Amino acid sequence: MLLQGALATLGLCTSVFAQDVSSYISSEGPIALTGVLNNIGPNGSKAPGADAGVVVASPSTSNPNYFYTWIRDSSLTFQVLIDRLVSGQDTSNQGLIDDFTVAYANIQQVTNPSGSVSSGGLGEPKFYVNETAFDGSWGRPQRDGPALRSTAFITYANYLISKNNQTYVQNTLWPAIKLDLDYVAANWNQTTFDLWEEIQSSSFFTTAVQHKALRLGSALASTLGEDHSTYDTQAGDVLCFLQSYWNPSPGYMTANTGGGRSGKDANTVLASIHTFDPAAACDSVTFQPCSDLALSNLKTYVDSFREIYTVNSGISASAAAAVGRYPEDVYQGGNPWYLALFAVAEQLYDALYVWDQQGSLSISDISLGFFKQFDSGAASGSYASSSAEYTNLTGAIKSFADGFIALNAKYTPSGGGLAEQFSRDDGTPTSAVDLTWSYASALTAFDRRAGSVPGSWGAKGLTTSCGQSKIGESTTTSVTFSVNKTTSLGQAIYLTGSVAALSSWSTSNAVLLSTLDYPVWSTTLNLPSSTAITYKYFVLENGQVTWESDPNNSITTAASGSQTLNDTWH
Ligand SMILES: *[C@@H]1O[C@H](CO)[C@@H](O)[C@H](O)[C@H]1NC(C)=O
Ligand SMILES: *[C@@H]1O[C@H](CO)[C@@H](O)[C@H](O)[C@H]1NC(C)=O
Ligand SMILES: *[C@@H]1O[C@H](CO)[C@@H](O)[C@H](O)[C@H]1NC(C)=O
Ligand SMILES: *[C@@H]1O[C@H](CO)[C@@H](O)[C@H](O)[C@H]1NC(C)=O
Ligand SMILES: *[C@@H]1O[C@H](CO)[C@@H](O)[C@H](O)[C@H]1NC(C)=O
Ligand SMILES: *[C@@H]1O[C@H](CO)[C@@H](O)[C@H](O)[C@H]1NC(C)=O
Ligand SMILES: *[C@@H]1O[C@H](CO)[C@@H](O)[C@H](O)[C@H]1NC(C)=O
Ligand SMILES: *[C@@H]1O[C@H](CO)[C@@H](O)[C@H](O)[C@H]1NC(C)=O
Repeated sequence: MLLQGALATLGLCTSVFAQDVSSYISSEGPIALTGVLNNIGPNGSKAPGADAGVVVASPSTSNPNYFYTWIRDSSLTFQVLIDRLVSGQDTSNQGLIDDFTVAYANIQQVTNPSGSVSSGGLGEPKFYVNETAFDGSWGRPQRDGPALRSTAFITYANYLISKNNQTYVQNTLWPAIKLDLDYVAANWNQTTFDLWEEIQSSSFFTTAVQHKALRLGSALASTLGEDHSTYDTQAGDVLCFLQSYWNPSPGYMTANTGGGRSGKDANTVLASIHTFDPAAACDSVTFQPCSDLALSNLKTYVDSFREIYTVNSGISASAAAAVGRYPEDVYQGGNPWYLALFAVAEQLYDALYVWDQQGSLSISDISLGFFKQFDSGAASGSYASSSAEYTNLTGAIKSFADGFIALNAKYTPSGGGLAEQFSRDDGTPTSAVDLTWSYASALTAFDRRAGSVPGSWGAKGLTTSCGQSKIGESTTTSVTFSVNKTTSLGQAIYLTGSVAALSSWSTSNAVLLSTLDYPVWSTTLNLPSSTAITYKYFVLENGQVTWESDPNNSITTAASGSQTLNDTWH
């Protein structure tokens, strides 16, 4: 494994390396499947007391206690089993899948701190494994749950319909699916806790999976002769909103609109793989794995961990590296997560699958930086699969993807158990043991590497009709910020605030103002039009941030044109 960086960088013969990865997959694949099944009631060996079909997040009961069932983790886990049923890869778990649908349709009806089934309770993130409400304080609501649950249910419903069992779908599954879809349609434009349960704002992963659920739901409703007009209308609006997370410089999706972080986050990679539609080619409007936006985002995300984890020292800047949830993470030490490395590999396998199917790959100005990692001479353009450049790039990208699997392999203990994290310092497994989601993420990455892909959900050919035909062309207003502030040598004035163009409250990526009209410091930025924005200036000196005093400044940007703000330092 020591040579892996060098091998990937030089594009040398990687067969030995690929063989290591293949042998890890043949041993870890069955362990991961057993790991998943062990954590599901009623008979899972590590899920004592869990009801039939209920997924325990991890058998760990202290530091951290994950002996609960989360709607998100459970739905993503059963999505794997359902996709494998649909593809014919594994038909042995259909009974368990039926238990899952019964249990989580039952959980929908459990009144909880988020409300009742008809007053917001569907947004409740986690329950006890006996299907009763958890009433402790928690980050609630989490609005990705109903989207992911309905997506799993719909995938199964479509399978049953293909087996001439529409009656069961109509009578038993549809009522539960409709509850979740109606919740998504009514609440997608409300703030939510993100998938890491930390930030309440709008969250890219949540918006992306909501969009997919509405599209899938519309198609199923249509098949069943049910009204789907609301789902269609809302899906169009959600797709417009999805575009707004893009941060063109340096080219990534901002994971959350709040939270004051860089916004570089596994959230976005997970969004891409869990909304992968093999029929949608490399469409950027739905952030497909091989789209220029998603590839640029992937590079920005991966690179954000290269310098901060000791386990990454010595790894070449263009080779696979350990990655975590987000660079600012401190939870349980803020370490690499197995599922994050698997997600990166999976996005790349998805991309390779599509390029292979379409017989070409394209490089745009947006994705050029991603491709230059593998060929410093790469240039924008379209490359047919018969070209040397195509062979060169896809070969290197396959090695790069395998590198993430190889790192997980390196840090998987003998026995194959997958915890939540491994130490950023020395790679020792840490936090919750036997994390169901770690195992599920291994299975999907392995399946995609083997060319097994999920069904289409209707992403092909989608366009936005929100007056912004392309990302980057949204309506903006040119705003000049200026503040009169006398400073001393070594001090500089920065600006940060509530939108991506203002670095989303990050101090590390904040906007440096110009001294052209000193003592007035100023800058001009394009901000979303007709939008309420808060912002603040700060002095940076020797790395020390000194904020302007409270309150935050607030404005609503003009509908168009330009405006100038003459602020007084306070
Ligand atoms: C659980 O075990 C019981 C007793 O062996 C068996 O009857 C039941 O079918 C099992 N359930 C599942 C979902 O495997
Ligand atoms: C469900 O599980 C919780 C947590 O273990 C426990 O406190 C509660 O009494 C259980 N409820 C029922 C109805 O078994
Ligand atoms: C339809 O599917 C359900 C769930 O698996 C099953 O219980 C039922 O027997 C099936 N009905 C038919 C007619 O196949
Ligand atoms: C609601 O949608 C509008 C229009 O896309 C968007 O500007 C706003 O940020 C959204 N708010 C939330 C909380 O989703
Ligand atoms: C393939 O990539 C290598 C490494 O960057 C580069 O030196 C070489 O010119 C590329 N070959 C082709 C045919 O593009
Ligand atoms: C900046 O502030 C100083 C001190 O309050 C004042 O004397 C000066 O006129 C101001 N300059 C401008 C351009 O507003
Ligand atoms: C300013 O905005 C930030 C980011 O939303 C927030 O954390 C902070 O509490 C605000 N400060 C005041 C005084 O409202
Ligand atoms: C700020 O100053 C500029 C130039 O003097 C002026 O055109 C603009 O109207 C002022 N803006 C406000 C909000 O007062």
